Amino acid sequence: MSMISKFVWMNGELVPYANATVHFLTPALHYGAAVFEGIRCYATDRGPAIFRAREHAERLIQSAEVFGFRTFPWTVDDILQAFRDTVHANEFVECYVRPLIYLTDGGWNLNVDGGQPSLGIAVWEWKNYLGHDAMERGVRANISSFTRHHLNVMMTKAKIAGNYANSFLAKTESVRLGFDEAIMLDPQGFVAECTGENIFIVRKGQIYTPPIATILDGITRDSLITIANDLGYPVIEQPLSRDQLYTAEEVFVCGTAAEVIALREIDFRTIGQGYMGHVTRAIQTAYHDAIHGNHPRSDEWLDYVR
Ligand SMILES: Cc1ncc(COP(=O)(O)O)c(C=O)c1O
Repeated sequence: MSMISKFVWMNGELVPYANATVHFLTPALHYGAAVFEGIRCYATDRGPAIFRAREHAERLIQSAEVFGFRTFPWTVDDILQAFRDTVHANEFVECYVRPLIYLTDGGWNLNVDGGQPSLGIAVWEWKNYLGHDAMERGVRANISSFTRHHLNVMMTKAKIAGNYANSFLAKTESVRLGFDEAIMLDPQGFVAECTGENIFIVRKGQIYTPPIATILDGITRDSLITIANDLGYPVIEQPLSRDQLYTAEEVFVCGTAAEVIALREIDFRTIGQGYMGHVTRAIQTAYHDAIHGNHPRSDEWLDYVR
């Protein structure tokens, strides 16, 4: 995967890729004092379009507020324009968009008010987050030995950079064990989410997903709940146990990077028939239509770059 692009947007300027650097003594680098978003821009008949750009810009600002940043020079509309300008300047047809608000110029005493927020936005071409045949074949997952954050330890609604040390622990363990992704349980032992995806199960024609209390309120999760309802599958938000995953007919995970991926095996137990089930396929297909501008929901969800 190449992350090279022509420009990175930094505090209002489009800076050549090679010059988009920060100093070693940037506090965000030492303490994870930053918040970010993961967004995708897709090719459509009307040119590149950013999926649910406004919701991502709003969540970025909310994450910054949750972390404690109090003043920003940028509004949601400024950030939306910066997303479009960055994609346009780099001439990508499809790309991943990564904004980061990070603490600069102080904050070494662990006080957010001691530093300043900076905003950077990078774009790069990134396909197949969970591997190139994951979309069709599904992937294998394990229940992590690491617990997802307790609500009052880290703020699970915010994409705070430091939160992702927990995801790194779980994902590294999972891959070293030979799996593709880790499922994390919350401190009470209920299924929470994966290291970078939300999770759904299908049982007797009903779809279930954990409530948002302890997890990231995923934008793909929200889109899939709408798509599933449109397709006539009501989605029930309720706490799920580990063995409900093992006995589900279908399990799938979703996120901006991964999109919609079936889990074909969990902890060496085959899920359903061991390949993507028909409910997952219907939702995956509708999601792909939506992100590429070919679905009745596309107009409300796509932000055309030009
Ligand atoms: C921990 C976690 N859960 C869920 C998701 C899915 O969120 P979204 O669909 O907004 O990308 C992500 C990805 O951002 C994540 O990092």
